[in-house]
Amino acid sequence: MARLKPTFICQACGAASSRWSGKCEACGAWNSIVEEAAAAPLPGGAGSGVAARALGRGRVVALEGLSGASDEAPRLVSGLAELDRVTGGGFVHGSVLLLGGEPGIGKSTLLLQASAALARAGHRVVYVSGEEAAAQVRLRAQRLGLSEAPVALAAETNVEDILSTLKAGEPPRLVIIDSIQTLWTGQVESAPGTVTQVRAAAQAMIRHAKTTGACVILVGHVTKDGQIAGPRVVEHMVDAVLSFEGDSGRDFRILRAQKNRFGPTDEIGVFAMTGDGLEQVTNPSALFLGDRDPDAPGAAVLAGLEGSRPILVEIQALVVPSTLGTPRRAVVGWDGARLAMVLAVLEARCGVRLGGHDVHLAVAGGLRIQEPAADLAVAAALVSSLLNAPLPVDAVFFGEISLTGAVRPVSHPGPRLREAARLGFRRAVLPPPAAEAAQEAGVRPVAAPTLDALVARLAA
Ligand code: TYD
Ligand code: MG
Repeated sequence: MARLKPTFICQACGAASSRWSGKCEACGAWNSIVEEAAAAPLPGGAGSGVAARALGRGRVVALEGLSGASDEAPRLVSGLAELDRVTGGGFVHGSVLLLGGEPGIGKSTLLLQASAALARAGHRVVYVSGEEAAAQVRLRAQRLGLSEAPVALAAETNVEDILSTLKAGEPPRLVIIDSIQTLWTGQVESAPGTVTQVRAAAQAMIRHAKTTGACVILVGHVTKDGQIAGPRVVEHMVDAVLSFEGDSGRDFRILRAQKNRFGPTDEIGVFAMTGDGLEQVTNPSALFLGDRDPDAPGAAVLAGLEGSRPILVEIQALVVPSTLGTPRRAVVGWDGARLAMVLAVLEARCGVRLGGHDVHLAVAGGLRIQEPAADLAVAAALVSSLLNAPLPVDAVFFGEISLTGAVRPVSHPGPRLREAARLGFRRAVLPPPAAEAAQEAGVRPVAAPTLDALVARLAA
């Protein structure tokens, strides 16, 4: 074999270069480039005849002739409704899913619970732990009251060993790899955890899924800035990427799909970490509004929507005179650029000057909001804090604010308003076209055609 030339690989994005440099040209990450031996071509890789035959390559089939796969139940339904919603109705056979999250957030716990549920339903499940010994996983299962579930445990980190374990005995329907960063294959020379190893290991597991029809779930640890450490490259290779979020100081955990070839990407699953493992939260609004202080200024309830599910959540703002040359803008759970836009519209269209104030904004409960429908609730919270006047305790807010200061309609006002009514809210500040939906839901509409109209009302 020709001697392998060393290559420099960015551990954040996987870009290869022939020289070391302090900054990755491809993704801009600093100090992420590491020297690795160039990957040897994998035997049985994409081009080889063995894999090609196994994958059914080298021949064409008619699309309508592919009915076989969908005739049998195409998905493995875990029975954990919060998880199944995010995957789009269960794990798809032959698919590979990456579950990312910070260490300690509960990835292993979630997957052990899902494994136990599927094993109890009669599916063969193999849980490969590269981080904990089988005895430790069993201990955890005992604590979760799942020790009698027929999950097969393996504590292995070598890809070839794992594949031969999987091939021995009845073929598994679900394989959990906890975690992808601990795997290594003898086919490449780099150390475990490097991009080259992680990519080769992921490729081997993907090939296993596609050839056997098993569903494979890879656990990936995430660094502080939210990247799945090393294997960002893996994100492009797998069928779905789920992230498990929440701060470890709190009990809520949010499962979110970042990519899903077989389902929606806007659904969330909500869990609470308890002494007995993860519990599903079927009524997240009640949870997020749990510890509200009705007399506090600067708090507005957003009637939000996450995927198909309405979720009410409190937006909190604190506006204080600044002592800094450049006032502070701190945002938790929302988009900083979006906040800057709302502040600019408040200043330009409504005469609300916040240029000399520090602004802090937070979404209560550790939720991360992405929809522009939150604009109106954010603006209301900001104005309420500035005026030091609490907002009506029985009101919810939603609406997108345009640069002209107009309040624009948002999607699905009906479910938002019905959820608000169900939780005892009596008023909704909303874009005028949504007023009818409010009446139908039994909530009094307070139409805000422009942001200026809302500010005038709050200041009155
Ligand atoms: P874990 O699933 O090991 O996290 P990850 O695999 O993402 O690193 O979860 C570890 C944390 O969860 C740990 O801090 C303890 C906590 N925990 C509970 O609070 N209750 C439980 O029943 C279990 C199993 C864990
Ligand atoms: Mg773990």
